[in-house]
Amino acid sequence: MTLGALNYGELSIGKKLAVKYFVVAMALFVAQMLFGLIAAWQFIAPDFLFGVLDFNVNRMVHINAMVVWLLYGFIGSIFWLVEDEAGVPLVGPKIAEATFWILTLAVVIVVLVYLFVQSGPGETATLWLINEGREYIEAPRWADIGIVVCMVAIFYNVLATFLKGRWSGISGVLVLDLIALAGLYLAGMFYTTNLPVDQYWWWWVIHLWVEATWEVLVGCIMAWGLIKTLGARRKIVTTWLYIEVALMFGSGILGLGHHYFWIGTPEYWLGVGGFFSALEPIPLVAMVVHSVYDAGKHAFRSNNHPALAWLIAHAFGNFLGAGVWGFMQTLPQINLYTHGTQWSSSHGHLAFFGAYVTIVVAFIYFALQKLRGDVWMSGGLVDRGIKWKWALFLTHAGMVGMTMALLIAGYEQSFVERALGGSTWQAYFEGQTRPWFVEAMWWRMAFGVLMTVGVLLLIWDFLTIGAKETKPMLLVQSLDESPEEIQEGEVGVAAQS
Ligand code: HEM
Ligand code: HEM
Ligand SMILES: [Fe+2]
Repeated sequence: MTLGALNYGELSIGKKLAVKYFVVAMALFVAQMLFGLIAAWQFIAPDFLFGVLDFNVNRMVHINAMVVWLLYGFIGSIFWLVEDEAGVPLVGPKIAEATFWILTLAVVIVVLVYLFVQSGPGETATLWLINEGREYIEAPRWADIGIVVCMVAIFYNVLATFLKGRWSGISGVLVLDLIALAGLYLAGMFYTTNLPVDQYWWWWVIHLWVEATWEVLVGCIMAWGLIKTLGARRKIVTTWLYIEVALMFGSGILGLGHHYFWIGTPEYWLGVGGFFSALEPIPLVAMVVHSVYDAGKHAFRSNNHPALAWLIAHAFGNFLGAGVWGFMQTLPQINLYTHGTQWSSSHGHLAFFGAYVTIVVAFIYFALQKLRGDVWMSGGLVDRGIKWKWALFLTHAGMVGMTMALLIAGYEQSFVERALGGSTWQAYFEGQTRPWFVEAMWWRMAFGVLMTVGVLLLIWDFLTIGAKETKPMLLVQSLDESPEEIQEGEVGVAAQS
């Protein structure tokens, strides 16, 4: 591998695939930002693109692009680490390659239909061909089935590779989690005309994905990342992972109840949902302690500073966005007022960004280091790290600014529309005309633009980082590794190249 050059041709098959997934992920990330900006502008100028690209279409593309690109980021990360972790080349490379192209073609078709056909009459054909109408997973039925088939193929690749190679704590958790993740998607495919029943199952996908299976998945990725960037001890990292997983499933599964407060489900969900979801921040605190402990223990000596910075951002972002912002509105007594206001959107933005965008970005930095020939990525980069640091700052400043603006808007809505106005139709509109709400929409727009600049800078950094470096990467081989641990799977950073 040549330092600084693009060593794509020399990557293993799994890593090549991972790069492809990351490229599509980034394209969809930019699309997500663009449609977010259009939707945000429509809050300020409701006539903008009216009848051409209505708010509901932009919103749908915005959040579907998000779900899909994050999944692409996760799949890419899994393909990247599976061979290292199993110690053998990817099993079934042809299937894996075909899956990538089929999945990507399906995504392109779905997006084109969203944009150009948009909606159809209320009949089964619309459900199959245009749009299923379930927020976040609007993809039509044909695509649903295609996605399931692709996921089964990817699962086969991962499982077969581990079966052929070796197992570790991380890969065991990963494989079990993938079963749950793919299985839950099926819950979003039932169709019933009874809205509460439909919502009941739909939340199985949305809540149990983001608050259980995705969290466990990023736990695995973070564990692996800490071993690679810092040379953290596998035994310690794996122990943390088990604890976090137990806590996440322990609180996250019944925490589902916080979406069952007002949709026509039995009243006991108020207590069950309130209690268990209030416990959900605990594993997220554990993740912060875990990453800060490991980084501190290794005196922040890492072989990939940008990746480590985004890993730490993940730990804090997850805790604040999901844990704190989620907790704020999770007790039924409070949710009664905040439900359906911009409060949820504030939480939704900070949680998805803090928990998932950050970790995918961290992982892309690992991949880039290898792609550039295991090049130096610690302190003192050729461009003094200006691009990655500014990208980190601008994306975070933009996201925090948007979150705060939405929180203020949500607070005002809870107060004016709910507490004072008693949730009437008139109060609903009144809540959206007061200055605090209107100004917040402008602030959200401004911070959205700032964040978009950050994302573009980030992508520029992805394209250039390491290209002019001449030093090989810092070796951070864990010195305290016992022989049986090495046998168990870990070969350390030094042996990675
Ligand atoms: C990374 C993890 C998380 C993500 C990505 C996330 C994302 C979201 C999103 C997007 C919504 C809005 C859903 C909609 O469209 O109706 C939402 C709602 C909600 N979230 Fe989270 N969330 C996460 C974790 C949490 C946690 C840990 C808690 C509680 C401690 C929580 C509590 C809530 C509550 C109570 C609502 C319902 C708001 C309402 O409908 O009134 N979330 N979440
Ligand atoms: C340029 C930056 C962005 C802008 C201007 C923006 C704007 C918007 C707008 C206007 C909506 C519709 C809100 C509503 O229905 O009231 C929305 C929804 C949403 N956006 Fe963004 N967004 C941006 C970036 C992001 C990012 C980076 C993420 C996460 C990775 C994200 C996640 C979401 C989610 C989860 C929802 C649904 C929230 C809910 O239903 O409560 N957005 N966004
Ligand atoms: Fe939830």
